Amino acid sequence: MIYVRQYQTIIVLASLLLTAVACKSPQSNTAPTVTNTATATTAVTPTTSTPAYLNPALPSAERAEDLLARMTLEEKIGQMTLIEKGSIQPTAVTDYFIGGILSGGGGYPTSSNTPAAWAEMVNSYQEAALATRLSIPLIYGVDAIHGHNNLKGATIFPHSIGLGATRNAELVQQIGRATAVETRATGIPWDYAPVIAVPQDIRWGRTYEAYGEDTALVSELGAAFIRGLQEDGLHSQTAVLATPKHFIGDGGTVWGTSTTENYTLDQGDMQIDEATLRALHLPPYEAAINAGAQSIMISFSSWNGTKMHAHQYLLTDVLKEEMGFAGFLVSDWQAIDQISPDYYQAVVTAINAGVDMNMVPYDYKGFITTMLTAVEKGDIPESRIDDAVRRILTVKFNLGLFETPYPDPAQLALIGADEHRALAQEAVSQSLVLLQNENEALPIPLDAKIFVAGSFADDIGVQSGGWTIEWQGKAGNITPGTTILAAIKATASGEVAYNKFGKFENFNPPADVGIVVLGERPYAEGRGDAADLSLSNSDIELIHRMGEQAEHVVVILLTGRPLLITDALSLADAWVVAWLPGTEGQGVADNLFGHHPFTGTLPYTWPTHIDQLPLGTAEGEPLYPFGYGLTTGSQ
Ligand code: GLC
Repeated sequence: MIYVRQYQTIIVLASLLLTAVACKSPQSNTAPTVTNTATATTAVTPTTSTPAYLNPALPSAERAEDLLARMTLEEKIGQMTLIEKGSIQPTAVTDYFIGGILSGGGGYPTSSNTPAAWAEMVNSYQEAALATRLSIPLIYGVDAIHGHNNLKGATIFPHSIGLGATRNAELVQQIGRATAVETRATGIPWDYAPVIAVPQDIRWGRTYEAYGEDTALVSELGAAFIRGLQEDGLHSQTAVLATPKHFIGDGGTVWGTSTTENYTLDQGDMQIDEATLRALHLPPYEAAINAGAQSIMISFSSWNGTKMHAHQYLLTDVLKEEMGFAGFLVSDWQAIDQISPDYYQAVVTAINAGVDMNMVPYDYKGFITTMLTAVEKGDIPESRIDDAVRRILTVKFNLGLFETPYPDPAQLALIGADEHRALAQEAVSQSLVLLQNENEALPIPLDAKIFVAGSFADDIGVQSGGWTIEWQGKAGNITPGTTILAAIKATASGEVAYNKFGKFENFNPPADVGIVVLGERPYAEGRGDAADLSLSNSDIELIHRMGEQAEHVVVILLTGRPLLITDALSLADAWVVAWLPGTEGQGVADNLFGHHPFTGTLPYTWPTHIDQLPLGTAEGEPLYPFGYGLTTGSQ
C-alpha cells in the first residue's frame, strides 16, 4: 500500500511547513485527516525529500534524533503518556498525540473477546495515532504473562512458578516465542512480561508470576523468556517487546508494610541493605538487559521507605548509567500517584527520577497539563523530556512500527495453534512436582477403576489462575482448554467416575485409585496476599472421604505457591503439585499414567509451618527444600 504511505509523507511534509510557521503556537497543530487502510506493511520508498525519521535505512537513533527535533512539547509529552484503552477514544489519541495505549488485566474489546475484535480495537487506536501531524505510531501494551491470556482461545501456558519447576530455559524461550506470535497477531507489539522478581515470602499474591526464590534461576529463565519474546527480531510480526518487571525488589517486601487496599506484602517496603539488594534482586535485570530488554517496568514497592518510582539513584544512576540500560522505563498502573498526595510533586519527582513513560492510566489530560506546567516552570528540564522521548522513539523504530504499524491478518490463525498447545502440554508435564509417592500409587494403570473428586478437577479457570481472561482470573469454563478430569477420561481405558463432593456410593466402591484435586481459587497481585496457606477443613474431609472409597489416593494441588499440607500428608499415598498449568490439562494426565515421567523440582522452599516465612527467618527444616522433587520412569 505504498501510495498510502506516500500520501502520509506528503501530508507530513506539508504539515512540517505549517509547523515551521505554527511552532510558535504549537496548539494550532491540526492533525491532518489521513485515512489509513489497516494493512500489514506501509513501506516508504525514501526519496531526497523524505524526512530522515521516515527512512528505514537509517539507524533508529538517527531517526529518533531527527523526529525529536521536529516535535513540539505537546507531542513529546504525548509520547510519554500511556493510557488504558477504556479511558480514551481514538480521536483523543490524535488530539493529544498519545504515544501508548494498554489493555489492563481483563482488557479485552467490549464488542467481543475474539482475535479479530482485538486486532480491530488495536488498529483503531493505531489509525488515530498515525493521523497526527508527524504520524508517530503508538505502542500498544498488554500483560501476556502466560500466553496472550486476556484473549479467549489463546494458548494459556503454565504460570511462571510452573516454568521455574521445569528448570528448562530452552522450553521457556519457546514459550516466550509462542506467546509473542499470538500477541503480535492481534497488533500488540509490547508485552508486560516477564516478572523477574525473586520472591522471599510465598504469602505474596504474585509468587506464581515469578520463576522462584533463587536469583540464578530467575536470571536464567527471565532472560530465556525475553529472548523468546524477541527471538525473531523486534521488526518481525512474530516478536514483541519484552518488559521485565518490576524494578526492583517487588518480591522482597516485608509483611504488613503495604499501604495499598488491604494488601500486606504487595507494593510494600523492602527493608534490606544495598549489598543484599544488589546480590538478591539486581542480577535478573543484568541478565534481562543482556538478553535484549528495551523496556523495564518499575515496581510499586519501596526500598527502606522510598517509593521505587521516586528513586533517582536506582532508576537513573544504577539502571540507566551504571548498568547502561538504553531502553525506556515505564511506570506501573497509576504508581506515580502513590509518591505524594500532591500530584504535581509526584509527577515532577517521578519524571526527574527517571520514569520515561507514565502508565497514567486514566486522567491523561491531567497528566499532560501537569507536565506542560512543570516544564514551563522549569521543574522538569526539557532535557529530561528529550531523554525520555528519545528512548521511547528509538524503541518504536526498533520495533518497525513506522513501517509496519498494523498486524498481518493472516497471523490470527496462529492463535491457539495446535503446535502452541502441544508446547504448553509438554510444559505442564515438565512443571509437575511429585512430592510423595507411597505404595506405588503412581503411575496409575490405564485400566484402573478411578474416582475423581474436587470441583477444581473440571475447571479451566482454576487451573489457569489469575491473569486469565480477567485480571483476577475466574473459576469456570472461561476459555477453550482441557481440564484435568477431561484429560483423565481421555487417557484412561477403565471406568472413571467423577463427583466433586467425593461421594461414590453409586459407583460400587472401592476404586483402585481416587484422585482429589484441591488448591487455590484464582487471584492476582495483592488480593492474593495470604496470612494462612493451610488447606481448608473441607479439603481435608474430601481427602478423608476418598480414602474410604479407594485403594490408593492421589492428591493434585492447583496452587500459585506452596501450601501447608504437613498434617494432611498421611491421608494420601501420592501428592502432586501442578501449580497453575493453564489450558492444557492433558499434561497432568500424561504424568499420572506414566506417559511422561515426573521431572519437576521445587522452585520455592516448601514450609513445614507458617512460622518458616519469610524464607530463611525461622528455625526448623522445611517440609521439602528448594530443588526437591521425586521422579518416576515413564511407562
Ligand atoms: C498492574 C501490575 C503490572 C501490570 C500493569 C498493567 O497493576 O502491577 O504488573 O503490567 O498493572 O496491567
